[in-house]
Amino acid sequence: MKNIIVTVGTRPEVIKMAPLVMELRKVQDFQVTLVSTSQHREMLDQALSVFRLEPDFDLDIMRPNQSLAESTARALRGMGRVLQENRPDLLLVQGDTNTVLAGALAAHYHKIPVGHVEAGLRTDDPYLPFPEEMNRRLTSQLTRLHFAPTRRAADNLLREGIPEDRVFVTGNTVIDALYWTEREYPDALPRVAREILERGNQYLLVTAHRRESLDGDLLEMAKALGEIVSSHPEIEIIYPVHLNPKVQSVMKEVLGGRERVHLIPPVSYPEIVQLIRNCYFILTDSGGIQEEAPAFGKPVLVMREVTERPEAVEAGVARLAGVAKEGILRAASELLEDPGEYRRRAHKANPFGDGKACERIAGEVTRFLGR
Ligand code: UD1
Repeated sequence: MKNIIVTVGTRPEVIKMAPLVMELRKVQDFQVTLVSTSQHREMLDQALSVFRLEPDFDLDIMRPNQSLAESTARALRGMGRVLQENRPDLLLVQGDTNTVLAGALAAHYHKIPVGHVEAGLRTDDPYLPFPEEMNRRLTSQLTRLHFAPTRRAADNLLREGIPEDRVFVTGNTVIDALYWTEREYPDALPRVAREILERGNQYLLVTAHRRESLDGDLLEMAKALGEIVSSHPEIEIIYPVHLNPKVQSVMKEVLGGRERVHLIPPVSYPEIVQLIRNCYFILTDSGGIQEEAPAFGKPVLVMREVTERPEAVEAGVARLAGVAKEGILRAASELLEDPGEYRRRAHKANPFGDGKACERIAGEVTRFLGR
């Protein structure tokens, strides 16, 4: 029997790790333990239930408004304890959160090899995104098996001196999750969206909550959104607002109570999948949505200065709109007022994978542990 621990801490980690947990559990001589730091609480529990998963250990580290140092320290202490007691043969982490860095570092302290899912994303600016870019780079130093979603991500790692035989191009597991969810929950489109479509209107899907945007940029985004709906009477906005209290207060202040702007509580993964599928286009600062939208051929305006996922931009589906109000308005007008431009951008592309990433990762894990 080989013991594998899979860690998750936030909603996107659950979404991207759930299909891998299911795949690894199919392998007979693997014992797969799911550890949640619960860096997110409500949003994480909701995501786990979608995939019918329950954590074997819950470190319960979330505190309202805690600092980055506090959240990493709590996760590191908790992960240290779990690894010491369970001594797995491999620890799998996903992405770039504090949970990932803490897990990888704790594993290093216990000399347990780490597999990093979604390895090799870079913006090359240590503060963008913050603190994720640094979490990623440090995690790469602590990792034995690097599962890069794309060729470009793999090349980033090779350039940093990671040996070639430790880097595997697998595709992103988010596409596996997307296809699974679309199949399992075909009727999950929220009522608010159905009603908009029945009125004959279109809606833009918005998500934004990055830490580096909290001091000012979020306000710019909110103002831009307000102007978009004012000048387009056939357009509505659906914005599931993240539970971070700072995000909640900015958005409610600027957009609360406005006609045709629907600020709703965070939605489940099946709901967001259907919201993406049925929207006109998307404005977001999220990483995962940049990966998911091309699979449905939905144009994306990325409300950030840089992206670690340029593949969606190269595929012609995504465009960097920046964080300033004028830039966001200009990019949105292009799509709203030029049908030719909209058609050119609204095409299906799958730069991030074919839905078989988990199969490939499970294959490499099997080879590694069999050695
Ligand atoms: C975290 C990750 C980010 C990831 C994002 C996905 C870090 C530093 N950040 O950002 O990489 O893209 O998750 O959503 O690891 N809160 C709740 N309930 C919840 C979740 C959050 O109340 O279920 C509130 C808490 O007050 C918390 C705050 O949101 O302190 C911020 O959460 P935190 O995990 O620190 O950062 P995120 O912005 O969610």
